[in-house]
Amino acid sequence: MAHLPAPGPAAEASLTPGRGAPGDGGPLPPYLLPLTAEAGANGQLAIGGVGILELVAQVGTPVFIYDEEHLRRQCRQAREAFGPRVAYASKAFLCKAMAALAHEEGCCIDVSTGGELAVALAAGVPADRLVMHGNNKSEAEIEAALTARVGRIVVDSFDEIERLGRLTGGPDGYGPPPSVLVRVTPGVEAHTHEYVMTGQEDSKFGFSLASGAAAEAVRRLRHPVSGVRLVGLHAHIGSQIFALESFEQALGVLAPFFAGLGLEELCIGGGLGVPYVAGETAPGIKEWARAIREAARALGIGEDVVISAEPGRAIVAAAAITCYTAGTIKELPGLRTYVSVDGGMSDNPRPVLYGSGYEAFLPRAVRAPRPRAVSVVGKHCESGDVVVRDARVPADLAVGDILATPVTGAYGHSMASNYNKVPRPPVVFVRDGTWRVVVRRETLGDLLALEA
Ligand code: LLP
Repeated sequence: MAHLPAPGPAAEASLTPGRGAPGDGGPLPPYLLPLTAEAGANGQLAIGGVGILELVAQVGTPVFIYDEEHLRRQCRQAREAFGPRVAYASKAFLCKAMAALAHEEGCCIDVSTGGELAVALAAGVPADRLVMHGNNKSEAEIEAALTARVGRIVVDSFDEIERLGRLTGGPDGYGPPPSVLVRVTPGVEAHTHEYVMTGQEDSKFGFSLASGAAAEAVRRLRHPVSGVRLVGLHAHIGSQIFALESFEQALGVLAPFFAGLGLEELCIGGGLGVPYVAGETAPGIKEWARAIREAARALGIGEDVVISAEPGRAIVAAAAITCYTAGTIKELPGLRTYVSVDGGMSDNPRPVLYGSGYEAFLPRAVRAPRPRAVSVVGKHCESGDVVVRDARVPADLAVGDILATPVTGAYGHSMASNYNKVPRPPVVFVRDGTWRVVVRRETLGDLLALEA
């Protein structure tokens, strides 16, 4: 097995999420593949020492295949860069195996619903390593978080402050007051897709700094009857952000407010972008952390303050590929060639939702040139069901081929649906020459299981 060559020279990063120059007919850039990806002498892809075609022959397609070593390395990097309060944002990809892995590698876990909380707890993650988010936490969700005694609750609205006060009080109480952070909207417009921008004034998240709502939230949470212990501030400006200046800008807005409060923790949220297509580059986790720390210190935030973060995409996106089977190839002369695969918007809604770009390649010939321009589409009943609009594939792509898309580890499985009653794909972890199914494929029985 030959390790795939290292990334080529950095190209200009695109500021639009997942949109970049489509491949130019060259082979798939190796840096879009997971850490342990290798091309065998036969040109076939192995990840974690496991031949992908052999694996797929056993588990079928579509399938999400994650490189466990890649996941672990990213978690370790986050932990090393930010310290023990760094949290993996589990909305990017969550199952019990992932929660356990992130915990083993020293990360806290950000959960944003009762469902995510339940999965993390079921994985055996100690509650004090969990951070509970959500802009509309129900009473039941707050109760679940309080009962479990999660490590942090990130407070998002005045209604939540009222709910927390009510639920933490009473004769039975929940023991010591829970530690909370106030989510602040810094009024910063990150350079990213409108749907994943969150830091701007006009946002459903958090308390606005400019209007004084954040200061009022702090005041109420510090009141003796609030029932909580206020430990810090939190801000999250958006997702798939390549420009470190956006984070520095947010810190610049937060720092003066934070300075007067004497709090112990400042969490800058997630949002670090990753390259999806040839030509895109993004800063790594270490670089991101360094920029944030340096900006914080330059703004006078003391060494005793914990600067934390909660990356999701940067941990998991490049760790996975999705394998499909090409089922039909339709050549429309003068228009385009449609390659239909056995999944689509149900396992990866990102192209439809955000116009996100991906690459395509054949695991049987991972280093092959890709001169043929096609559109890879799914099996769903709408024209918008596109997997890769402007894909480049090897000339001999044929029906029955296993076709893969790299960098599908974030917001694919987690946003998957059963549209058209398509069962959701399984998740397989590969490592050290072995593989394990961590989420099995849905069955038609599963699809019917909820019906009366
Ligand atoms: N913290 C908070 C409070 C968040 O809302 C998010 C993401 C994160 C952390 C993690 O952000 P990341 O590091 O993954 O960018 N479905 C979209 C992304 C939505 C992000 C939602 N919040 C996508 O597929 O691009």
